[in-house]
Amino acid sequence: MLNIAVFASGNGSNLEVLLNTQFNQGKIALVLSNNPSAYALQRAKNHNIAHICINKKEVGEKFESEILKAMQKHHIDCIVLAGFMLILSADFISHFPNKIINIHPSLIPAFCGDGFYGMRVHEAVLEYGAKVSGASVHFVNEIVDGGKIIAQEAINLSEDETPQSLQTKVAQVEHRILPQAVQFLIDSILTKEQHETLH
Ligand code: GAR
Repeated sequence: MLNIAVFASGNGSNLEVLLNTQFNQGKIALVLSNNPSAYALQRAKNHNIAHICINKKEVGEKFESEILKAMQKHHIDCIVLAGFMLILSADFISHFPNKIINIHPSLIPAFCGDGFYGMRVHEAVLEYGAKVSGASVHFVNEIVDGGKIIAQEAINLSEDETPQSLQTKVAQVEHRILPQAVQFLIDSILTKEQHETLH
């Protein structure tokens, strides 16, 4: 059974879907937020799941070492970034190679990278006049939103689309593809471990 940590900075609707999903050989063992008022922390509480807030504004340079300590304490095997609005360093990522995934509210490689997060993404999509958007789940590497894509689904934009209506549509897609991607992550880690044991 793999222990999964979910990192979330705000509402946590994606977290909620994960907390309501039964995974094969994996379980959500910890919810971590950088934001003390993130509703995601309340969701973890409601589900009786361990949760922790590490506020970068308070801990400063120690932010990632504090996160690492929490990962060790809870024996975390892999990490899901579900609305986590801070960028993790290459050094942090190297502790979890191919074991961190992220959900992004656009069709990567469009409207992604540094500065594209949350509602800003949907505003940019509409400003550009794009006719489709969607959601992507990808492995996290040292390039922001640059790792290999695991799952992706497109949606058509309507003539009268607003950033809010687009956000709602994208969220529906996210809630469908994220649990599938998390199961894929679990399977890929276990398959690799099995392979390494045999050789
Ligand atoms: C989601 O749309 C997620 O894709 C996005 O934040 C939202 C969080 O919603 N993530 C990013 O923009 C990361 N670059 P939620 O808190 O309701 O799950």
